[in-house]
Amino acid sequence: MFRNLFQVRRERPELTFSEWTKDLGPVFSVKLFHSQFVVLSSFEAIYEALVTKGNSFSGKPTKNAFRAEVMTDQFSNITRLQANQTWKKLRLICHKKIKMYDTGMKRIEAISMNMIQFLVEEFKGANQTSFNPKDVIYNTVMNTIMTLLLGKTFSKDEELFEKVMEFEQALIRASAPSGRGAELDVFPWLRFFGNKTYKTLNRLVELRNQIWEMMTEEASRGDLLLKEGEEDVRLMSALRDALSEEGSELTEKHLRSVITTDIVLAGTATTSNSLYLFLNIISRHRAVQMKLQEEVDRIIGSDRTVCLTDKGDMPYTQATQLELLRYSSVVPLALPHTSLEDTIIQGKTVPAGSTVLLNLYHMHHDEDFWENPFEFQPERFLGDDGGLVSASHPNRRHLMPFGAGPRVCLGEALAKSRLFLVIASVMQKFDILSGEVLAPCDPRLLEHGVVLSSAPFQIIAKERVSQ
Ligand code: HEM
Repeated sequence: MFRNLFQVRRERPELTFSEWTKDLGPVFSVKLFHSQFVVLSSFEAIYEALVTKGNSFSGKPTKNAFRAEVMTDQFSNITRLQANQTWKKLRLICHKKIKMYDTGMKRIEAISMNMIQFLVEEFKGANQTSFNPKDVIYNTVMNTIMTLLLGKTFSKDEELFEKVMEFEQALIRASAPSGRGAELDVFPWLRFFGNKTYKTLNRLVELRNQIWEMMTEEASRGDLLLKEGEEDVRLMSALRDALSEEGSELTEKHLRSVITTDIVLAGTATTSNSLYLFLNIISRHRAVQMKLQEEVDRIIGSDRTVCLTDKGDMPYTQATQLELLRYSSVVPLALPHTSLEDTIIQGKTVPAGSTVLLNLYHMHHDEDFWENPFEFQPERFLGDDGGLVSASHPNRRHLMPFGAGPRVCLGEALAKSRLFLVIASVMQKFDILSGEVLAPCDPRLLEHGVVLSSAPFQIIAKERVSQ
């Protein structure tokens, strides 16, 4: 049967693709005018494309991508650059700083813990009344990113903060996945006829430029992190240094695009929505919560704060984090890739130049593989001895929330460490109960913003009595 992209459920295309997988198998193509989209859904197909044949699929689409082109300064960011030397260089610089962030920089660790402390205080401040934790979570995650970039944190009333939140909201309006505004990708000339999405896109570009100017000004305004002779750990400085190296191919456009979209936007929306959903899930799963609390009490106790080095001793918390990433699949179709040459995937030819979509959501909820995939069960990642199953266990192999291969998520390590710190710290201090406003946490009912997210809900954070 002929399938085309206009038949796709606009807000949640991965659900339609999941349905189609039943008739069409794990590798099928969809047409949109003259463009061919190939959708891969099974672990075998996705692994073959991303890892075994990763180089052949490391390209990025430039056709039918007008909105991405405008937003990313003509494809100047890591997410949209072709897999060339500039992309490699930018990934390397960011990677190095992200690693530094999570390993051993005492001052940064102190800032990280201050942010968790902020979250704990805000939860306490709600005074055991029903409240929506979205802003607190967003604020905490965003300040992680701001520390990485600028070495400082911001309060939510500061202009930069407000602009970033507005940026994300405008992005939701301008570029829901195949949904609102997608017509502009195919018919860019609509912009000459008062197209609504194009107007939002212009606002988005204006906001991006304002955020960039504010951040440049912050970066040049003395340094809050450094002492005489100490290494500058800020990502912004590292990128600026690389730009001013003799013969560097980097431009101001690369920096602006990487910082505003790859780091600020990709870094904040993904992690904060995962944590927001965690609170929704945990408020309805008392048994999981009790097991998390038992582990935190046994390994950390109530007198000291959680550290990243505790992670290895806390298999249940790690299993919960993995289950959260599977269950929520906040980036359900990964990011689009392009095949650079004709390539065979699971016996089918994917022609060169196809846009390839990876249905991670389907892989993570495939009823042929997972038992009760729509139930939240951290135990699926634990062995009989209560330890975390090894990385080669089929359940771990079938989990790829960050993609895999050459274009694997740049922020994987940072996201995982933030998820761990927040989950363990919240469980150490609070019982999380459902509040007055409920929203579904079933993955089939999540909303699509920049990434999948829970509709607004409230919780009650009841302070735990010291153990
Ligand atoms: C790419 C997921 C956090 C920056 C991706 C991809 C996924 C993903 C699925 C696409 C991989 C592919 O297409 O093969 C997530 C999830 C996160 C998260 C689930 C948190 C729970 C972050 C953070 C940052 C970040 C914290 C930045 C600090 C990026 C960038 C890319 C990317 C720049 C593009 C990489 C490239 O094309 O070379 N992410 N991400 N992400 N992510 Fe993340």
